[in-house]
Parts: sequence; structure tokens; C-alpha cells
Amino acid sequence: MTAQTAPLPPGSIIGILGGGQLGRMTALAAAPLGYRCHIYCPEAGVPATQVCDRATIAAYDDAEALAAFAQAVDVVTYEFENVPAATAEVLARNVLLRPRPEVLAICQDRLKEKDFLRAIGIATAAYAPAADTRALGRAVAEIGRPAILKSVRMGYDGKGQVPLRSGTDLGEAWAEMAGSIPDASGIVERRVEFTMEISVVVARGVGGDLAAYVPVENRHESHILAQTIAPAPISAKLRGEAGAIARRIVEALDFVGVMGVEMFVTEDGHILVNELAPRPHNSGHWTLDACATSQFEQHVRAVVGLPLGDCERHSDATMKNLIGSDVEAWQELAGEPQAHLHLYGKGAPRPGRKMGHVTRLSPRGNPLRADDTDASEELD
Ligand SMILES: Nc1ncnc2c1ncn2[C@@H]1O[C@H](COP(=O)(O)OP(=O)(O)O)[C@@H](O)[C@H]1O
Ligand SMILES: [Mg+2]
Repeated sequence: MTAQTAPLPPGSIIGILGGGQLGRMTALAAAPLGYRCHIYCPEAGVPATQVCDRATIAAYDDAEALAAFAQAVDVVTYEFENVPAATAEVLARNVLLRPRPEVLAICQDRLKEKDFLRAIGIATAAYAPAADTRALGRAVAEIGRPAILKSVRMGYDGKGQVPLRSGTDLGEAWAEMAGSIPDASGIVERRVEFTMEISVVVARGVGGDLAAYVPVENRHESHILAQTIAPAPISAKLRGEAGAIARRIVEALDFVGVMGVEMFVTEDGHILVNELAPRPHNSGHWTLDACATSQFEQHVRAVVGLPLGDCERHSDATMKNLIGSDVEAWQELAGEPQAHLHLYGKGAPRPGRKMGHVTRLSPRGNPLRADDTDASEELD
């Protein structure tokens, strides 16, 4: 279903595909605006269902459950982009889906995503498709090493990625990448010698209005986001370029909702886009505590057709993910002034599992780290 530009009235029900922390924080942001959320996910007791009074616990390909879900809600969005594309298409025939299913098809496939970026003239790391082991040999010959073999689908937090160094055996690399993914297909990407990883969280409304948060710096540990520093200590020029790239992407996709655009800053000061997340993004969690409108509220505003809110920050922030046993410090963190603790209601901490995050605020323009940037830049 398409069209519908008038906002859905308060009391309307937002269906969310996926039951993780992003759905939880979206549902929590929907409540003050008077909307209700209905979660659809395969597992009970997950972070999002804990804060919603409506949930459908069913497989993503359960046609009957999907049909009933479509009937029960006024609009559907997702917090997890790896739902089967067919699921999104079935839903889109029966209920408003925002962002539209074509976006999902692009963003859940690294090859389609890179081809899309190339088609609209946005720079990425050099890449080549590797649909099977023979194609992998050709791709590596073309791209060179060091490179990274990534599964085109179902990857997150570095899963499904294998570094290709000078001595790496390609057969072994393929087996490792394809291991847990049925019918795996790959993409080879040149390893980028970046000086910094940044991201832009951008929102686009039903009428095409745009709003973007300031670019932030992301530091990863073991391929998992460990820390986000807002704003990123980059020049005003780069900041402008990063924002413009993010805006161009959502416009080209006719996107509605919030998107996280991950980027590399190269040694020679260029920006390469790494990947797109068609939903609120981990690097936007700081906006909950530091901005007039959080990324989750923006996402709700966009999908129900309200005007977007103000992305301006009232504070600078450092967001730290609480991964695995980090969460054991909850009591200390809860007692720390200027620290905002968010826990996701997950069960046992496991290594690599995102259990929550903590955002520390500091006055705007006075970064926490001494080496962040010259403060004058923060004034523009
Ligand atoms: N081409 C690349 N060059 C250098 N580092 C990379 C490259 N691709 C990924 N990485 C590193 O691995 C991290 C995770 O990879 P990414 O493609 O974002 O997948 P995901 O976040 O879905 O696991 C990136 O944030 C970056 O630190
Ligand atoms: Mg990523």
C-alpha cells in the first residue's frame, strides 16, 4: 500500500518487525506521542515485547500470522533489516510499510547496496562479487589484498567476514565465511586504511523533509561498536560532506524513516560509505540523552507521517556499549552523575552480546577527550 500523507492520529498502532533493543527504544519513543506498538518477532520475552502490550510471536515466513499482523496495525516498520524480503512484500500489499520494501531488498544485500551507491555516484571501498569459490579467486585478483570477504547477506557485528591477507587460503576463507549461512554468496572488499570511522544518522519524512544529526566517530572492538563520540572530531568541511552524502542516499531511495550511514574517513581526507542501516542505528543512541529529538522519536515521526523534530544537540556525548560482562557494572553506572544508563532487558550476558549502553554528557563544544578537536569548530 502506498500514498497516505496525512499523519496517522495518536492511538494508531505501529507494527515493528523485530524484537531487539532498537524496537524497544522505538516503542518507548512512540508512547509520549500517543502511539502504540505491536511487535512481530520469532521469540518471546525479548527486549521489545517487554515494553509493548501487543506482540505476535511467529516466524517471519508465517503467512497467516503476517496477515493477522497486517490487519492489526496501521503502519509497519522494522528494527531489523534481515527479515525475508518476501515478508516485507507480503506485508506491503496489505498495510503501509515504511521504509518501503525495495529499500529493504537493497540494504540487506551488501552487493546490491554497493551497486546502488556506485550508481548514484557515492564512493565505497573497491569491491567485486564472489558468488562462489571460483568467483572469489577472480574477485581477489581484481581487488588485491589485503581485502575482506563478507557474506552479502545476514552479516552484523562482523559476523560472516573473513580477512584476506597475503597468505590466506581462499578455500578456507570461503568455508569460514559460508559456514553458518545457507546458500551464502560473497563480496570481496578492499581493506580501507581509514583514519576514522564515522556515521550519520539521517531521517526523511513522508513529504521528503530531511533532518540529520551531526556526524559521530565510531570505535569498534572485535568488529562490534564499542564507543560513539558525538560530534566526531573532524573538520567542518568533512562534516558537511558526510551530511550531504547521507541526505543524497535517503533521497535516492525515496526513504521514509531513520537510516544510519556508516563511513570511513581515509588518510587523504575522503569519505567512503561502508554500509547502510535502514533503521535507527547503534551510533545514534547518544541522541536519546543529548538531543532535542532522539533518533527513535524521529523514526516514529517519519513512519506515522508527523513532521520531523529538531536534530540539534544540547550536549556533546560519548556513548559506550555495554557488551557481555560490561553490564555487571550497572550499579556503579547508575550512580554516576552525567551518565545515562540504558539496559535492554536481555537475559544472561554473553560475550559480544549488546546488553545496554551508557551515554555520558558534557557541555556542548567542550569535548570529553582533550585531543578531540579545536573547540572553535563546534561553534558553526
Ligand atoms: N573494507 C573495509 N576496510 C576496513 N575495515 C572494514 C572494512 N569493512 C568492514 N571493516 C571493519 O569491520 C567493521 C564491521 O564491518 P561492516 O561492514 O560494518 O559490517 P557489520 O557492521 O554489518 O558487521 C567496520 O565497522 C570496520 O571497522
Ligand atoms: Mg557496520
